[in-house]
Amino acid sequence: MIRIDRDRLWRTLMELKQIGAYSDEATGLQGVRRLALTDADAEARRRCVEWMVEADLEVRVDRIGNVYATRPGRDRTLSCVLMGSHIDTVATGGAFDGTLGVLGGIEVMRTLNDAGIQTLRDIEVGFFTEEEGVRFGTDMLGSAVTAGRIPLDHAHKLTDADGKSVKEELVRIGFDGPAPERRPVPHAYLECHIEQGPLLAEAGVDIGIVQGVQSISWQRLTVRGEAAHAGTTPIGSRHDAGLVAASVVVEARRMCDSGEFGQLRATVGNFDIGEGQTNVIPHRAVITVDLRNPDDALMTAAEQHLAGYVDRLAGQHGVRIAWERMAKTVMVPFDARIQDLLAATADDLGLPYVRAMSGAGHDAQEIAAICPTAMVFVAGENAGISHTPREYSNPDACGNGTDVLANAVLRLANEADEPVS
Ligand code: GLV
Ligand code: MN
Ligand code: MN
Repeated sequence: MIRIDRDRLWRTLMELKQIGAYSDEATGLQGVRRLALTDADAEARRRCVEWMVEADLEVRVDRIGNVYATRPGRDRTLSCVLMGSHIDTVATGGAFDGTLGVLGGIEVMRTLNDAGIQTLRDIEVGFFTEEEGVRFGTDMLGSAVTAGRIPLDHAHKLTDADGKSVKEELVRIGFDGPAPERRPVPHAYLECHIEQGPLLAEAGVDIGIVQGVQSISWQRLTVRGEAAHAGTTPIGSRHDAGLVAASVVVEARRMCDSGEFGQLRATVGNFDIGEGQTNVIPHRAVITVDLRNPDDALMTAAEQHLAGYVDRLAGQHGVRIAWERMAKTVMVPFDARIQDLLAATADDLGLPYVRAMSGAGHDAQEIAAICPTAMVFVAGENAGISHTPREYSNPDACGNGTDVLANAVLRLANEADEPVS
């Protein structure tokens, strides 16, 4: 078994955390704000590329800005083993979400170099563009383009809140690469990621073997009512877009509490009522609805229920409501053989683990469409809280997860056959 250099991994994580650092008022902590294709993301990308080059890897950038770095194997005609994740963050991000899988992957390469290990297959480490989806509105964008779910042209045309397109921003930051976005199919894909939830901490283990990712639905609702005077307009004559939007927020929570839709989770993370004037009834409201469900049928039922509720509300309040689909993925189970290989690797390292479903979305759920894929989870402190600067996985947990990644990658990279999974 090989062991990665934990101190080196930690130093690398702490260095990348400085790029896009901001002072978070709510927590008093230093957070990371590195939205996709911003200057901060560009700087972090360049730093990662430097680390890749220092590890003697061959770097390439594809047409959606995904970056891959290859460590050649003995037989270059065989498909590679790919590791990866993302380095973009949400606006209130921490130092581990995504970056652990990327910097952990680079650390695996350094460890193999130090040990002078040659593998049969190429090994690659990569990072995918706009995993978070907070800037251009669609999550797992780079990996979804690579896997063929989202056409390149559609992805290029997506715009941020200021109207800047993905393509424009890729060109501006120098990551509009020449490599084809539909990359050669890997032998296997492995992603090490923080859990971002409480299950591993509750079980008292550092490691999770991920069974799959639940369904994700993102929609934007625009409510159009009528502006009118707050003091004079009778309650029964209002077309209050703000009230309608707020009712959707409350209904979404009620749906979760009702148990009617299984383990549904619903979040309204954007709530915009435009000018925001104390004495004017809001004429327009824009909200986003994020639904998650491990059961596809219950997800469909939840979406249908919400659509019916919104129709009724529109009638009652005399407002117009437009829906826009931002993202939708179904439940993705991970490859059983690769899960078992990860479990055997954890056993051989003497690391206890649990098997768990992922609550968060990941690039792995996209890459699973093109090759056998699985994920290693690493426990986080504070019940695994994430998408906040409070996100924290300690050096041992990060080291343990990356050791599992390293040894599993090594096994896969020495497999001669293309196994049927
Ligand atoms: C990715 O972070 C997600 O929204 O699950
Ligand atoms: Mn992530
Ligand atoms: Mn995230």
